[in-house]
Amino acid sequence: MNRRYRKTIIAGNWKMNKTASETKQFAEELKAIMPKAKWCDVLVCVPSVNIPTAMRAFKDMRVSVGAENVFYEKSGAYTGEVSADMLKDLGVKYVIIGHSERRQYFGETDITVNKKVHAALEAGLHPIICVGESLEQRELGVTMDLISLQVKSALAGVSSDKLRKCVIAYEPVWAIGTGKTATPEQAGEVCTFIRATIRHMYGARIARSITIQYGGSMNPGNAAELLAQPDIDGGLIGGAALKSDQFVDIINAANQE
Ligand code: PGA
Repeated sequence: MNRRYRKTIIAGNWKMNKTASETKQFAEELKAIMPKAKWCDVLVCVPSVNIPTAMRAFKDMRVSVGAENVFYEKSGAYTGEVSADMLKDLGVKYVIIGHSERRQYFGETDITVNKKVHAALEAGLHPIICVGESLEQRELGVTMDLISLQVKSALAGVSSDKLRKCVIAYEPVWAIGTGKTATPEQAGEVCTFIRATIRHMYGARIARSITIQYGGSMNPGNAAELLAQPDIDGGLIGGAALKSDQFVDIINAANQE
């Protein structure tokens, strides 16, 4: 973390978990144990049907509500999809784009990720752009090549002004939901590389101000060590974000002076 130059963001990614009633219950639990002062921004990304409930439930708690996906067209005959304007109109601030589960199960590619990033920015949303290598790619030694390609493709055509609204999440696919975390050094190395890639594209000042999260089995036991890496500015948390006490423990780990 480096709070002098950029925001630390602790974000839950609920994936396809929790009904509207469970969302309310989680918010009540969180309210009771949330630290009063926070040095980090807190966000929960919830299934789109639960966004209105979450908006009401997390109001007054300084917890933002985000979406887990968005479609890139503005409107039209795209049955089942949700547009960036629809999310914005509900009060959504952040949207996860290009999560590896979407790339794996829903045919998302670097091209659709780029289109979605543009659509989100156009609507005034902050995209959280996910990048990350598979185990095979890591073993082949192509991690940095792949990350560079994913970052450059996602940001193609994005102006410096708009880039300031983007967050990058480094999520090694092999660490997601597996209980296998990247070591702080492994995670830190890739996040430093992502910042260097952005520096080459946009210059040092902007690169310094971009929030880069780590995601992949982050939990109360490893959060502090991961967040101690200079280029890791928060977490995108799946499993551990579903339990209010674990989520707060991670917030507290990011909340150290
Ligand atoms: P995990 O998920 O924390 O359960 O590994 C992280 C993510 O997919 O964003």
